[in-house]
Amino acid sequence: MFYKASLLAFASIASSSLSNAAVIVPGATWTDTSGNVIQAHGGGILKAGSTWYWHGEDKTHNSVPDLMTWTRQNDALTPISGTSISTSNIVERPKVIYNRNNAEYVMWFHSDSSNYGAAQVGVATAKSACGPFSYRGSFRPLNVESRDMGVYVDDDAAQTAYLLFASDNNQNFKIARMDSSYYNVTTLVSTIPRSTLESPGIVKRNGVYHLFASKTTGWDPNANKVITANSLAGPWGAENDIAPRATRTYFSQNTFNLPVSNNVAVYMGDRWRPQQLGGSRYIWYPMVWGNNNLPTIVPADVWRVDFGTGAHIVAAGTTYEAERGTLSGPARLLNNTGFSGGTAVGYIGNGGSVTINNVQGNGADQWISFYYANADSGWRNTTISVNGGSAVRVDQPNTGGGGVVLSVPVKIFLRSGVNSITVGAGQSNYAADLDKIVVYTDT
Ligand SMILES: *[C@@H]1O[C@H](CO)[C@@H](O)[C@H](O)[C@H]1NC(C)=O
Ligand SMILES: *[C@@H]1O[C@H](CO)[C@@H](O)[C@H](O)[C@H]1NC(C)=O
Ligand SMILES: *[C@@H]1O[C@H](CO)[C@@H](O)[C@H](O)[C@H]1NC(C)=O
Repeated sequence: MFYKASLLAFASIASSSLSNAAVIVPGATWTDTSGNVIQAHGGGILKAGSTWYWHGEDKTHNSVPDLMTWTRQNDALTPISGTSISTSNIVERPKVIYNRNNAEYVMWFHSDSSNYGAAQVGVATAKSACGPFSYRGSFRPLNVESRDMGVYVDDDAAQTAYLLFASDNNQNFKIARMDSSYYNVTTLVSTIPRSTLESPGIVKRNGVYHLFASKTTGWDPNANKVITANSLAGPWGAENDIAPRATRTYFSQNTFNLPVSNNVAVYMGDRWRPQQLGGSRYIWYPMVWGNNNLPTIVPADVWRVDFGTGAHIVAAGTTYEAERGTLSGPARLLNNTGFSGGTAVGYIGNGGSVTINNVQGNGADQWISFYYANADSGWRNTTISVNGGSAVRVDQPNTGGGGVVLSVPVKIFLRSGVNSITVGAGQSNYAADLDKIVVYTDT
């Protein structure tokens, strides 16, 4: 593995209304106010005063309620040679909580050796949310393994904090209570045996604890789950999917869950790209509780949220089906009930392409979501060209099988009036099958 034990902090000031809130476009390249790609993988969100802080992993060294205008802060925690957070160690999933008793910010993270053999947590503290944090040490909580973890502060008078962690070779999931300093855990509260859950977050709603977690499949995505209990000690109920199972949580892994209102929380996930971890993307979606008292992700291509009022809005786009386009070369129609309208265009690339005509544009850079299916285990990519202009390349993560369709966003200039968008021209590799595109005016 190729990690650098470095954690970064970003800050964002809340905007005052939904219409002022910047759009959230899951899967796009997110940049900070200096234009640099945000490195905050496996991260967590903390609100202090009117500022939101996002702490996460810097993976570049490998090879709000606006909440989208992020300014890079200090390095929150940097490697210390000769310790468990040296440059040859693994430091992942930082989560920062505020301890009122000590007026201190406490960071917990997954602290490991380069072969993941140590299976520890690390703790660091700071007087400001951005740090720099002072490293206190790494240890096995209650002398058991801890791998992908999270933390939770309850709403009781004492603001009791908990460590949520995958343990026992990732087989059992555990919850342990922290002491009042938040420096250590004192008591095992719950064990969820043989659950193979990891990378958790908790949202409490109407007194019910909702524990979100992925399953343990390494970097590969899986169908993340929610389980509920009336007490952190359990009993915990059955696993429920938060997205259609075959989408593998829209190719993402839970990292944090941020409540917005009584019925809405933000699902925050990572779309890992193991060969190029710094290029992993952030997948943030609204998650809405339904009549069954269970939350489901709304797979919004483009959306906004106002944390002040709890309002969120999912942009409506205009859909153009690929099969209505002009096919050339070996490109041909493929039928599958998973495709919108039952049909997609396959054999794109290697001489095949499809041109979607009469796409209405606004004379602006606009988000377009490309819905595609790519059943093999590798990532594909395709070229996109508007009105015969130069091509941009877009990555297409594998969709995992059958007629499973995912979308990737591209921001591209459309002239006012009609445009033609050609997918796959001039590319020598096969692209994924193209189901449809959805064009947004909300930027
Ligand atoms: C945490 O508490 C345990 C006792 O529950 C103790 O053995 C251990 O040394 C403590 N670890 C740290 C880092 O303080
Ligand atoms: C695919 O569906 C289209 C209708 O959308 C139909 O015309 C065509 O015959 C079907 N092709 C195959 C191979 O089933
Ligand atoms: C596009 O995908 C092909 C495999 O289909 C790969 O060989 C190529 O490196 C990819 N190109 C880019 C720019 O990622």
